[in-house]
Amino acid sequence: EGISLAVHDRIDSTNSEIARRWQQGETGLLVSVADCQEQGRGRRGRPWQSPVGQNLYMSIGATIGRGFTQLEGFSLVVGIALIESLKLPEGAWAGLKWPNDVLVHDRKLAGILIELQGELEGAVRVIVGIGLNVHMKEEASVDQPWTSLGLAVPGQSWRRDRLAAGILNQLVDRLHDFEKSGFAPFSEIWNQYDLFRDKKLRATSGDWSGLGCGVDESGNYLLDTGQGIEKINAGEISLRVA
Ligand code: BTN
Repeated sequence: EGISLAVHDRIDSTNSEIARRWQQGETGLLVSVADCQEQGRGRRGRPWQSPVGQNLYMSIGATIGRGFTQLEGFSLVVGIALIESLKLPEGAWAGLKWPNDVLVHDRKLAGILIELQGELEGAVRVIVGIGLNVHMKEEASVDQPWTSLGLAVPGQSWRRDRLAAGILNQLVDRLHDFEKSGFAPFSEIWNQYDLFRDKKLRATSGDWSGLGCGVDESGNYLLDTGQGIEKINAGEISLRVA
């Protein structure tokens, strides 16, 4: 089945648009991109600032031949696909903040919002939403330290069409690998991008604190508490540098 791409000047949220397209009976791999979003959504119910003409807002709707319970680590795989597609220069200080934020010099460059739709005959529909700051303007009001490709890696043209194509290619490949083999083969790759490694961390809920040790073969984050290794489950708790 082919890819069907829809490009919008303005939309509420590209993630919502994928859900609507499925409702309308579209099939295959669906991609929606927009020049701006009026109700861009981030993780944990936060808004995602989506000003016009500056950044990439893109969602991919795909069917993964795995059950709900076999999706552990999926969101980390998307993070790997995203950061690798950008081909950032060595020494750009880029990495992943568990589970899947892309940071450069401790500032957020891109975020990923994954939404799952119903399971049908052992397959799950996933909506992968990617917000990538490309040429974000200084005055934008964002509640956390951020950067953009233009600021972090100047001197490249950073065209949004090429970025979108690169992300899509990389993601489709990685999704196939994940569908076949799950997260385990990705854990070492993910750990190469781990920005929490050897940092003192604490979980925002729960009592855990310790040193960052990377992820295990299921994508759980490992904390060395001094009394043993504690596993932090994706989706349940978030981690901060202490
Ligand atoms: C995060 O909180 O880090 C995730 C941000 C995800 C934003 C993208 S922009 C395209 C897609 N549509 C949305 O409404 N959100 C995602």
